[in-house]
Amino acid sequence: MIILSAALALSALILPTLAATSWIVPGAVWLDTSGNKIDAHGGMIIKPGSVWYWIGYSVNDGITPVIYSSEDLLNWDNRGIANSIKQMWRPKLIIAGGRFNIFGQVNRLTQGMTATAITGPYTLYGSGMSIPPDALTYSDCGPFVDTDGQIYWITSADHNTLSINHVTNTSNPTLSTRVASLALGAFEGPALFKVGSIYFLIVSSKTGWRPNPDKVFWATSLAGPWSGGTDVAPEGNNTYNSQSTYVAPVIGSSQTTYIFMGDAWDSTGSAASNYMWAPLSVSTSAHTATIQYFPFWKVNPTTGVVTTSSTGKRYEAEDAEMAGRAGKSNLSLGIVTDCSSCVSKRAVHRVDDGSTVTFAGVEGLGNGERQWVALHYTVNNATGGDAYVYVNDEKMNVRDLNVRAGLHHVVPISVVLQKSNNITFAVHTSDPHFEAHLDGIEVLDGTEEEIEVKL
Ligand SMILES: *[C@@H]1O[C@H](CO)[C@@H](O)[C@H](O)[C@H]1NC(C)=O
Ligand SMILES: *[C@@H]1O[C@H](CO)[C@@H](O)[C@H](O)[C@H]1NC(C)=O
Ligand SMILES: *[C@@H]1O[C@H](CO)[C@@H](O)[C@H](O)[C@H]1NC(C)=O
Ligand SMILES: *[C@@H]1O[C@H](CO)[C@@H](O)[C@H](O)[C@H]1NC(C)=O
Ligand SMILES: *[C@@H]1O[C@H](CO)[C@@H](O)[C@H](O)[C@H]1NC(C)=O
Repeated sequence: MIILSAALALSALILPTLAATSWIVPGAVWLDTSGNKIDAHGGMIIKPGSVWYWIGYSVNDGITPVIYSSEDLLNWDNRGIANSIKQMWRPKLIIAGGRFNIFGQVNRLTQGMTATAITGPYTLYGSGMSIPPDALTYSDCGPFVDTDGQIYWITSADHNTLSINHVTNTSNPTLSTRVASLALGAFEGPALFKVGSIYFLIVSSKTGWRPNPDKVFWATSLAGPWSGGTDVAPEGNNTYNSQSTYVAPVIGSSQTTYIFMGDAWDSTGSAASNYMWAPLSVSTSAHTATIQYFPFWKVNPTTGVVTTSSTGKRYEAEDAEMAGRAGKSNLSLGIVTDCSSCVSKRAVHRVDDGSTVTFAGVEGLGNGERQWVALHYTVNNATGGDAYVYVNDEKMNVRDLNVRAGLHHVVPISVVLQKSNNITFAVHTSDPHFEAHLDGIEVLDGTEEEIEVKL
């Protein structure tokens, strides 16, 4: 099935064209199979049988555990809330005592709930649990199941110490002996996973809803000693604008791929917050775990192989119609400029308030279905202004994506296109120094090839 392509780098393989209906698009709005925005924050994914489940908290339902299911890790069905409890933060699924259990943080304690079916309904049991042996309370939390089947719960205890405790393998499981108390720093968002004989622990610093550079520590025993503290992404990218919540192993027939699951919070952690999932490149010898960022990617749940999209149809900014400062100017002013990192090596820069760049006659599917348009642009100040896209005069705000444009230059948006479209890129700002730099746009129509990537 795999055909080698000379046109690609040696590390890349090209698969025959498949109906590439969807990709994981980090940081973009992710819709469920009913067309609603997925609302499952601070969560995890797990595959107890043949189906994947995503457990997280629903902001719209009042910080309530919610469950989605999927067979391909792309298309998720909303299976409803697990229990009507409110204000349960970072719910996670724990299989213990032959039952499905959800642990989450309620009032700085671990609240448990249990069910015989993964989709529930879940019954609350006990009052909130503090952390043995000294009854610490805590904030963020996450589970880990070791290769010997032992279950652990990692907490940001007393806000300053990461604690790793056993979870009993009983019905109505509880927290028991502490395995480690890690004074690595004031960390939260713990995500613990094991590759070979090395345990890795990814953590976030405490900066509220603002992202920071997540770190990874490692050990050969859960009890420690723990070492490291290296960045999981280039420091200035702030974990690609996200905060760790979990690392999910996808155990395939060809390879195991570790998915970094991050929350791309908005400024208040509202339901408008998105998800930043990306595969990790893990080195058990260098003791590093590094996020591999792709604007479009997916993992085959059967083989574990990661692929990214081939290029869609490109429209170059320098060939588009310019108005405003961009239009008034000309080559001698350098508005259309050389750009060594740009695909065509040319780009339109200094797109300011009042400037527009219009791509006319952009071909679309015209069948009423959403498709991806990737905007290749950067801004000189992620918070200094808003970028807008008009698709056939309908305005879409991509303001929240400016942070992403400031980091990695490719910002996918999902739109419904006609057969022929006019797409206008513009910015709005009161800051005279704010400007965007537009390389071009790329339109995906589902015929893209999957390019295998080695992690
Ligand atoms: C946990 O308990 C279940 C039964 O409740 C059992 O099947 C399983 O083997 C136990 N796991 C371990 C690691 O002891
Ligand atoms: C963000 O990461 C990319 C690689 O994905 C790197 O090229 C870029 O320099 C980083 N930016 C910052 C601000 O760290
Ligand atoms: C381009 O800009 C230069 C410098 O301002 C100006 O002299 C020239 O007339 C402009 N050309 C056009 C076609 O606008
Ligand atoms: C970026 O924009 C914000 C909001 O307008 C402003 O406060 C800040 O000073 C700007 N930063 C730079 C480096 O211009
Ligand atoms: C695109 O713009 C052209 C020229 O202004 C216009 O004739 C055409 O109707 C527009 N197409 C759409 C789909 O709005």
